Order: sequence, then structure tokens, then C-alpha cells
Amino acid sequence: MSEAPTPAPEKRRRFQAIKGVRDLLPPETTLWNRVEQTAHQVFATFGFGEIRLPIFEPTELFARAVGADTDVVSKEMYSFDDRDETSISLRPEATASVCRAYIENGMQQLPQPVKLYYLGPMFRRERPQKGRYRQFYQIGAEVLGGGDAPAIDAEVIQMLMAFFDKINLSGTTLYVNSIGHSADSCRRGYVETLRTALQGVKEKLGADSQRRIDTNPLRVLDSKLESEQAIIETLPHISDHLCDDCRVNYAAVKSELELRGVIYKENWRLVRGLDYYMRTTFEITAQGLGSQNAVCGGGRYDGLVELLGGPPTKGIGFAIGEDRLILSLQEGAKATDASAEQSAGTSLRSLTVYIAWMGERAYATAVRAAKDLRNAGFSVELPPVAQKFGKALGQADKLGAKFALILGDNEVAEGLWTLKTLSDGTQSKLAEPALIEHLRASI
Ligand code: HAM
Repeated sequence: MSEAPTPAPEKRRRFQAIKGVRDLLPPETTLWNRVEQTAHQVFATFGFGEIRLPIFEPTELFARAVGADTDVVSKEMYSFDDRDETSISLRPEATASVCRAYIENGMQQLPQPVKLYYLGPMFRRERPQKGRYRQFYQIGAEVLGGGDAPAIDAEVIQMLMAFFDKINLSGTTLYVNSIGHSADSCRRGYVETLRTALQGVKEKLGADSQRRIDTNPLRVLDSKLESEQAIIETLPHISDHLCDDCRVNYAAVKSELELRGVIYKENWRLVRGLDYYMRTTFEITAQGLGSQNAVCGGGRYDGLVELLGGPPTKGIGFAIGEDRLILSLQEGAKATDASAEQSAGTSLRSLTVYIAWMGERAYATAVRAAKDLRNAGFSVELPPVAQKFGKALGQADKLGAKFALILGDNEVAEGLWTLKTLSDGTQSKLAEPALIEHLRASI
């Protein structure tokens, strides 16, 4: 038999994940799963059902929904031509897809509102840094149809805060704002007032903001440039320019939040970077995230379904940045103590029983014990080859097992198994039928 030829050096290249994209590994993925499980549970209690969406869509969908001039669409999308030359993009967000799906699946025929949530990866070619990735994960929810009562806005935000509460995310601040009605009513008047004010201070602004005076003056309010902060504080506030309907609506949203005990702060600069928003906008920041501290963003987008070819439909929703949420939970756990870390699910100690076996007869028993314990729901590690007991116990400790089940030929012959509690070294002798009950009682 001839040996396979050694590959040429260039074929032995080691691959690395693409910049801004990463692997999520255990034990951290335990925390991801716990967060996602909690989202499923909490959102279900508010009557939301899960929607699973395509990872890619026609580029035109995002250009139309999010806005061709936004940073997300103009600079950050991963777009490519399919073989039939239609342009396709990896989704940078999912609200556009949810609206497309609502129209395509005739969901306006269902009882309204339709309440949907989604989880999954999104793609934006941003400059990678802590909390900012090119493939990142969102957990989002949208309410479509069924009117625009301020109670809907408040309930969506209440659900979000209930979810953060349930996963023990501490140090959050909820910011709310109203950016007024669609472009041709009160918002347009404000944008013109803002543009005029910005022209007056143009020389003091950086290049990006100078450009935005013409393209999208609202985005200047988003600027994080230190040198611009004092100038921005002098600009006119949108709350002074809302039409009567929008002012009443904003006041009602705030009082609905208060009715639900949701604590918020107003932030007149919260305009959001996607074009579809109107009236209520909100963002939540969390601790331990540095400059990328927005863990969630959302708002109302009443014209969007219509813009995508559907019937007039009201809409509101949010998306949580799951990567940032996890980072913040981990930072919070570090700042407190190990038990907090455990409650955040980052502990290695998910392994319950390590089976330390020696000898042929013991092996067959060990295989049976592993099967029975796993069927009973315990996490079990069964080493594939025999080890000396000392080495096996060392391995059990390294893996963070709670117990070692010691099975040598003696134990098997006697029918009495030894269970060692690794945290304190105590041992008990148990007959096989008693083992599962004993483990259940001690966990
Ligand atoms: P967004 O503000 O663009 O809104 O994104 C929502 C959240 O996703 C952000 O607050 C952040 O936590 C996270 N995120 C965004 N970009 C990145 C990134 N490059 N790396 C890590 N995390 C990131 C939307 O996407 C809207 N679709 C939300 C929405 C739903 N509005 C109404 N319904």
C-alpha cells in the first residue's frame, strides 16, 4: 500500500476564522443556551411565537427597508451576485425579513396583532472590537398589525425588561425618545430646523457630521466624538417640535411604562441608525461593555410593511445584541463572586458523574451504568480506556465532575459501588438500584 503524499507546504496552511467572526465554545455556550431558553419562555408568556427566517435575502429588501443611505446598507452589508446575477445580502438585521414574511405569508389575515420573535446570526462589516463583530447574534421581537396603541409600545418594552430581569442582567438603563411622525410631517420640520442649526456650527464639527448635515442631520445627534458633545447639547430638541398627535402619543407611551413599573430615562438624542423608525425609539445599555454598551435597540416603524408592498400595518419591535448581553453577564459575574458566575452558567461544573473503572468485568458494568445514568438525565463521562484510579480521579477533578463512580472488579463482584463526592472526598457504598435516587437527592 502506498502512503498518501505529504501535501506541499502551501497546502498545509492553518486556517483561521475570518476577521470579526468567532467560534463560541463550551462552557460559554451553556450560557448562550440558557439565555435563549429564557427568551423562549418569557416571550411565550407574552404571546409571541418564534419565526425562523432566511439568512440571506434580496439586497433590495434591506436597501428599501433599512435605507440605501444608512451605514448598515451602504457600507456594512455582505452582498454578492447569485448565479442568476440577482444581488443577495447576508441579513444585517431581521425586521425587514419579518415584514417581508408577514406580507408573503398573508399574515394580515391572522388575528392581529401578529407577535413574532427570532434568534440568530446577523452580518455587518463593521470595524471589529469588544462587543462588535461581523457575525453577531440577535434576539428580536416584532408586533405587526393590531393598531398603534401606546400600550403596545409599553408592553414590548416591559417584555424586554422582564427578560433581562429573568436572566439577572444588572446595570441596565432604558432610554426612550420619540422621533416624531413620518418624514413628511413633524419630523421633516424638525430636520430642517436641525439642519439650519447645524449649518451655523458646521466649522466646529468633524468631517462625518459635516457630511451628515446634508445627507441625514439626525445622525449627527448619534455622534460619539468628544469634541462635538458640547456643540450637540446646544442643538434644538425634537420634543419641542413634535406635532400634537406625536406629543400626546409620546406622553401616553411614558405613562403606560409607568403603569407597568418600567423605569426609563428620556434621551432626546436617541434617533437610531435605521431609516424605518418613527415615534417611539428606545435603547438599553448594560454594564461592562465599554463603548459598545447598547445591548438592545428598537422602536416603532408604522410605514414599513406598506413600503415593502404590503397593506398599511403598524409595527414595533426590538433586537437584543446577544454577544453583548453575554459579555455583560460575564462581566457582572466577575464583578461579584463565584456563585454569581455559576448562576450565569459559565461554570465548567456541568459534569455530574465521572466513571472511574478498571478491569474487563467492571467495564461492562460501567457501560451499563453510564447508559442508565444518562437515561435518568445525568451528565456522565465514561473514559474509553481503563486508567489507574488515581489518574481517573485526577481527570474527574479537572473536568469538574461532582462525583466519581468507582467501579473495580471488587465493587462489581460485591454488587456495591463506591460513589465519591469530589468536593469533600466523602465516599458511600451503594447498591446499583439505589444510585440514581442517591444522586437525585444529593444534587
Ligand atoms: P440595531 O440597533 O441595529 O437594531 O441592532 C440591535 C442590537 O444589535 C444593538 O443594540 C447591538 O446590541 C446589536 N448589534 C448591532 N450590531 C452589532 C455588531 N456588529 N456586533 C455585535 N452586536 C451588534 C436593529 O437591528 C433593529 N432591527 C432592531 C429592531 C427590531 N427595531 C425594531 N424591531
